[in-house]
Amino acid sequence: MNAGIFDELKKLITRAYAPYSHFKVAVIIRDKKGNFARGVNVENASYGLTSCAERNAVFSFVASGFEKPAELFLYTETDGFTAPCGACRQVLMEFDPNLPVIMLNRSGDEKRVLIAELVPLPFGPKDLDEAT
Ligand code: THU
Repeated sequence: MNAGIFDELKKLITRAYAPYSHFKVAVIIRDKKGNFARGVNVENASYGLTSCAERNAVFSFVASGFEKPAELFLYTETDGFTAPCGACRQVLMEFDPNLPVIMLNRSGDEKRVLIAELVPLPFGPKDLDEAT
């Protein structure tokens, strides 16, 4: 269904830097005009400084000056589907709770959820308005 995106993700994941976990992750965020921002996970010898593919893609999306994210594609070379980690879920909620997250496995099978479905009882921008 997303054949072009799947090909892009397979190329992108080769750029992941994961020498410690050997678990590579590739993310593409698309806006409604068809602009793409990309992210891969980047690990570090100081393990805690590792940065996930989703957050790297979000930061690239924002820095590219693109409008609101329309869809996020998350690819791992696994048989099952990989869902975003908790920290990335929080970051992805910031722009649109209805952001579709499409997880793809190594066969190109897809599982689609909304980011809000992954974050029950969220903390978000409007919580800040309630503090005086
Ligand atoms: N990782 C991501 O890039 N995204 C996730 O949502 C889960 C975890 C990365 C971080 C680390 O480089 C590797 O996967 C194993 O945790």
